[in-house]
Amino acid sequence: MVDFIPVHTAHIITMCPGGRPVAVMENLEEEKNIATVVSRFLEKRMLEKQDFITLIDNRDSPVVSASAGSTVRSLLKVRSVSETLSVFGNRIYVRGLIEFTNYCRNNCLYCGIRAGNTEAQRYRITEEQILNCCGEGYRLGFRTFVLQGGEDPFYTDEMIAGIVRSIKKTYSDCAVTLSVGEHEYETYRLWREAGADRYLLRQETADNGHYSRLHPSSMSPVHRKQCLENLKALGYQTGAGFMVGSPFQTTANIADDLLYLSGLGPEMIGIGPFIHHDKTPFRNEKDGSAELTLFLLSVLRIMFPRVLLPATTALGTIQNDGREQGVLYGANVIMPNLSPVGVRGKYLLYNNKICTGEEAAECSSCLQRRMNAIGYKIVVDRGDYMKEQN
Ligand code: 5AD
Ligand code: FES
Repeated sequence: MVDFIPVHTAHIITMCPGGRPVAVMENLEEEKNIATVVSRFLEKRMLEKQDFITLIDNRDSPVVSASAGSTVRSLLKVRSVSETLSVFGNRIYVRGLIEFTNYCRNNCLYCGIRAGNTEAQRYRITEEQILNCCGEGYRLGFRTFVLQGGEDPFYTDEMIAGIVRSIKKTYSDCAVTLSVGEHEYETYRLWREAGADRYLLRQETADNGHYSRLHPSSMSPVHRKQCLENLKALGYQTGAGFMVGSPFQTTANIADDLLYLSGLGPEMIGIGPFIHHDKTPFRNEKDGSAELTLFLLSVLRIMFPRVLLPATTALGTIQNDGREQGVLYGANVIMPNLSPVGVRGKYLLYNNKICTGEEAAECSSCLQRRMNAIGYKIVVDRGDYMKEQN
């Protein structure tokens, strides 16, 4: 009746030659190893690849040497929140996201606005509409505007530069962030000179083999990383990041992403769970999880105490209180949508995206309430990256 023996008793039944229970010994060794990895991470804020894998794979394991009931997750969460509070206090920065075009020349396999999705209803908004969004955002207290779109050849480099100039002219106390994909150095330079302060371009995955399973062969991971280097060299506050639980992703891939980010030294890091979209080749793939995303937010906060780390819309989509939980694991940025309500439901990178029906003001007050409820406050501030003062 072995079936009914409790697990811990079952361990003791298996004896090694010396008379000691093999499984128990293995457990002890493993627990010791996990505890060592955790304390090394908390001390150095960095690990080697294999240790990152151990950390991630054992995120819900107990850490016996710590206080009763502690797990890897709970220890990192406590540390992460204390890091965030000491750099930012309970202040949350907001970025007004303006999704100005959902046309895209690319065909990323995971993305709902990929060129191959012929069922997407395409739209572009005019410069005037963009400026109106900024106006509304400004009134609501936003001091950063993020212009996000697919790689849409309709917009020439000069057109984008013109839009950036207009925003900076009217709202000179605001930061402008661009998030419009891969471009050449000279284009990034033009936009930087036009006044763009920041740029978001997730590496998606640092592993070239994994990258090629998420993207068509026309897209190159080497070029993407080169873009990130160029953005850094041009003095943009640069945001990189990756999806959590994207198809084929292994823990080793995530470890590589962490190592890659450590080498790049971005000012912003965006991570969120992969969520399938019905009109993509990944329609039947499993979604990423909130629990792993949250754990990785705490890891990133410990690695990069000053980094601007959003609790993403994807996290809020996969779990009702995902954005609040994100903050409680070390995120300090929220990116509400400022796009005109008429187009919001069309910028669908994944299924069931939240906030597609709400007016900007509704999202803004909703988020204020949500943040206040967990003891944080949204501030009127550009929220620039603050270098450490020596
Ligand atoms: N699920 C989650 N995130 C996605 N993104 C694109 N498609 C999806 C999806 N299906 C993310 C990518 C991109 C960012 C703008 O949105 O990481 O860089
Ligand atoms: Fe958009 Fe709550 S944040 S409705």
